[in-house]
Order: sequence, then C-alpha cells, then structure tokens
Amino acid sequence: MCGIVGSIGKEDTVSILIKGLKRLEYRGYDSAGIAVIDQKGLILVEKRAGKVKDLENEIGEWKPDTNIGIAHTRWATHGEPNELNAHPLMDCKNRIALVHNGIIENYGSLKKILADRGHFFRTETDTEVLAHLIEEFYEGNLFEAVRQSLQEVEGTYGIAVISSLEPDKIIIARHGSPLAIGHSGGGMLVASDTAAIVDHTNKVVYLEDREIAQVSKDNYKIETIEKVIVTPKLQIIETDIKKIEKGGYSHFMLKEINEQTQIIKDSIRGRLDRESGTARLDGLDRHKKQLIETDNLIILGCGTSYYAGLIGGYVIERNAGIQVNVEYASEFRYKNPVVRKNSIAFAISQSGETADTLAAMREASRKGAVCLGICNVVGSTIARESEGGVYIHAGPEIGVASTKAFSAQVMVLNLISLLLGRMRIMSYDEGKIYVDRISEIPQKIKSVLDEADCIKEIAKLYSDRNNFLYLGRGFNFPVALEGALKLKEISYVHAEGYPAAEMKHGPIALIDKEMPVVVIAIKDSVYSKVLGNIEEVKARKGKVIAIATEKDSEIQKKADHVIYVPETIDSLYPLLTVLPMQLLAYYIAVERGCSIDQPRNLAKSVTVE
Ligand code: M6R
Repeated sequence: MCGIVGSIGKEDTVSILIKGLKRLEYRGYDSAGIAVIDQKGLILVEKRAGKVKDLENEIGEWKPDTNIGIAHTRWATHGEPNELNAHPLMDCKNRIALVHNGIIENYGSLKKILADRGHFFRTETDTEVLAHLIEEFYEGNLFEAVRQSLQEVEGTYGIAVISSLEPDKIIIARHGSPLAIGHSGGGMLVASDTAAIVDHTNKVVYLEDREIAQVSKDNYKIETIEKVIVTPKLQIIETDIKKIEKGGYSHFMLKEINEQTQIIKDSIRGRLDRESGTARLDGLDRHKKQLIETDNLIILGCGTSYYAGLIGGYVIERNAGIQVNVEYASEFRYKNPVVRKNSIAFAISQSGETADTLAAMREASRKGAVCLGICNVVGSTIARESEGGVYIHAGPEIGVASTKAFSAQVMVLNLISLLLGRMRIMSYDEGKIYVDRISEIPQKIKSVLDEADCIKEIAKLYSDRNNFLYLGRGFNFPVALEGALKLKEISYVHAEGYPAAEMKHGPIALIDKEMPVVVIAIKDSVYSKVLGNIEEVKARKGKVIAIATEKDSEIQKKADHVIYVPETIDSLYPLLTVLPMQLLAYYIAVERGCSIDQPRNLAKSVTVE
C-alpha cells in the first residue's frame, strides 16, 4: 500500500526514482510524485494524479542537477487521489519534503495545534501534519526533528524525509510499514520494498518498528525513536529481476497464473517424505510438541489468504482431526476472541505485511497462542514476528489479484495437514498415498492451464454480463468464494460465491436466463448433490459453466459449458479447480478492457486497517 523509494549520492537520481516507482506501482497507483534537491539547494517537486507513467511523461527530459531525491506512489486513504494530495508533501516554507506510507491516526488533533501555531495546510492528507511537525521541531538537526515529531504521532508510518537545510541526507523511519536501506556502489538507496532497488543492489538492511535512520551517500546510522543505537544487520536478498518482469506476457496476472506448475513444484520441493508417508516442514520443527498436543488451531488471514485458510480448515480437520477456527483477521482482532491454552494460530499472508493479519496475530499471541506464519515474502513483518512457520515459495507476486500465492498457500496447508495427520490419526499407508497424490499435482496443473483457450472462448460469451454466481461445496466452497473475488477485483463485475446447497435459501431468486452460474461439480463425495443444484439452476434458465472431473460425460447433458480438470483426491481438488476460475476472471477482464494488474481502488499489500 503506497511505495517509497529514495536515492542519495548516485547520478541520474530522477531515472533511478522513476524506475523504482514503476517497480513499486503494484502497491498503490492512484498518484505519484518525486522531490529532489538541486545544486542551488532548492527542493524541486513534480507530482501527478494517475499512474507513474503519467508522472514520467510529465517530467519528460527533465534532468535537474541533483544527487538526492525521494519518490512515492500512492494508494489514497485521506484525501482524494489528486495532484495536490500526492506525496511528497511539504512544510510551510518548502524546505522539508516528506513521503509516507501508513496512517497518522491523531492527525486531526495535531493539525489543529499546528494550525493554531500558524502552520498553513494545503492538502487533505493525514501525512502533511508530519511535514509541519518536523518544521516545528527543527532546530538545525533534521534527524532529531524527525525523531521528536514521531514521538507525537499515533498510527503507522514508513517515511522518508529530505530538507534543503541539510541536503546531504535522507531521514527514514518505520513503525508498522516496511523500509530498507540498500548499499549501492557510489551511493545509498532507501525503499519500502526491495523490488524498487534490486536493479542496483542486493545488500540491504531492514529497519524494525520504531527505528529511525540517517542515510548519507556513503554511510548511515540507525537508532530507535527512544535513542538506543542499533547495530545494523546486513542481508543479501535473492531477487531475480526476471521474476519481477512480465517476460513476454501481456499481464503479470497471466504470467503468474502460468507459473503455477513450477510454483507448486517449488512449494513441495524437499518437503515430501515418502519413506515415512509424511511432510517435512523445518519451520515447524521447534513446535512439534505443541503441534501434537494442541486441540485447536486458529487460521487468520484476509481476502484470498483467508479463502486459502478456509480450505486449510477443511483439510486439517479431515486429515488430522483437529478443530480449526478460520477467522477474518480484521474481525478476530476486535471481537475479544477466545484463545485456548494450547491454541496454535497460523497467520496466512502473501505479503506478510497486511495490517489486520499482523494485528490479529499479535492479539492471538497476547492471549497465549503460539503464532506461526505462512508467508510468501521472506523477511516480511509477519514472517519475522511469528515464532516459526512455513514459506510458500511462490516468488514475487506483482499482479494485484493473487493467483499463484493462493495455490501455494493451499499446497502448504495440505502439507501441514499431512504432517499433523501423521502425528495423529492418519495411517502410514494413507500418508504414502497422500504424498503420491501431492507429487502428481504440478503435472495436473499444467494440463488444466493447457486448456486456457477453451476458457477464453467461454469468457467471450459472458463478458457482457453484470452478475455471476459461483457455487461449490466442501473443499471447493472456498474456491467458489475465491473465483467470485477474482472476477470482482479485476473486471468490476458483481459476483457472489456460495455453498451450492445454500443457493435455494436465497440466491436462487437471482437466477434467470441472464445469470451465468459457475459450479464446481467434481467427482467428490458431494458430487450427486451438486448435480441436483445444477438442475435447480437449469430449471430457472440460468447458464451453467461447470468445472468437472475429466471423463465425466454425465455433466455434459446438464451444463451449458464444461471445463475439465484431472482426477485427484478431494482435498487437493482446489489446486485444480481454482485455475479455470482465475483464467475465466482474467479473460473476462481482458474482454472488458480492464486494468488487470492494477485494478481500480485496490493495492497489493494492505498495510492500513
Ligand atoms: O498479502 P496478504 O495475503 O495478506 O493479502 C491479503 C489480501 O489483501 C489479498 O489476498 C487480496 O484479497 C487480494 N487482492 C486478492 O486477490
């Protein structure tokens, strides 16, 4: 949610910042801006509403004589996404420029105090108060002024600040919103996401919450807001640039959908133990005793990660016989949840930065649960704060609509269910069969993806519809929810996911000849019931797009369109049935001319409440 990049000491500051912003754009993209200090000591600012491309076009060949600058791509929280509210934001005398990710919760009261002291506000943002606060505290030391300002602030922040009064440094600080310093030959970089700086360096230092750093062209120091000196931990990041580029695909989303064969191989590599018919998950080793003893798991997540968690709930209850509560992280944190003495909480998050998931995990921990993470981004806040966990190894996911991360999450949850199952109720033979079925999944994913053209044709037929219903049961009910979410997110078509049997309790009223109903009707234990649901839709002239198990000829007589997936065991079907959902949403969005990788109003990582 919003992206920050800064550069000091390097030539070509403007192009470094613009390139960095483009890499960050998936995090927020309603406006963008850049501030540099020129050789005369003036802060020059360029801002635009819209995409980074609009800012780039506006800047054109602009090449100010500078070697220091900060830049921001925004996802608006306070104030419209227009040019005025775009960051960087400035103080009264235009001597301080600041970019900010997060929310200053007490900005209202601070603004009033500062206005009473004569500060003049130009924007509707919460962020602007911080620029004025720094101005208020400034007495010849920018680092101290920022530190003092942050002591007044409630809320979350990742900030970068420059000042014409001290043009040889960038001050950055973090509380709840990630920031890193990158060592690069002949200068330093700062960024809220290392994707922005991987073209220049793989050596980074991450700031922790309540840390503040002063970064100059060849040096930096880090302290806590409370003035404790911090010894930096240099890390080498392994980002392959190819992984964050489109690589010939028209959209990141399509690339990421097609990567799933490989991603699932990566997520199971080295984790299947056929000998013992179980899974090997090193990140859970330290908690073996607790995993054996627990009788309650809590799974926390938001959006797509929550839906993956729902599947995890079904799978773990089935395979391990443990009671699982799957909760929206945003609800869990405020409902005063009951956490049992031996509860274990899994926080699921692709980004590892989702504010609600992080807060829910902290709440579970406060109440005594062991907290484990299921994350994609290595070194993310949830990964670092949890006591252990499992990485899903999906690689960078750039498309705002999550696809490959969902599949990798579902696979990891299956592995966890296998591990827990073998510790409890699953026999050796059952475990071995499970291992074998899991190993077959990558090839089966490939065979579904090979059918993309048939799904594209179906998408063309229905791309003009304004409502869709998605139905599934058991393990595939959350897949119906995920299918509907994908369609909503990227094509702005209203879609609802429902447990198939619930349709007759209300949504059936919506069905007429205009309504496409996507039904997951694979040959599992509830197959015949789902066929009955299809009949109910057809009786009301709805159009049925069925996702079925290959060789099922029966279903052809009932559905208008059938998309086949290969056979597997019940709990692994979601890994196959979700693929047509992703492709259908993608091709409908293409037909409707939507901005697929950057859908309106969304951001990749939701670091505000
Ligand atoms: O990074 P996280 O997995 O914690 O993100 C959770 C949701 O914000 C995310 O899944 C969101 O729903 C996606 N846009 C879904 O495509």
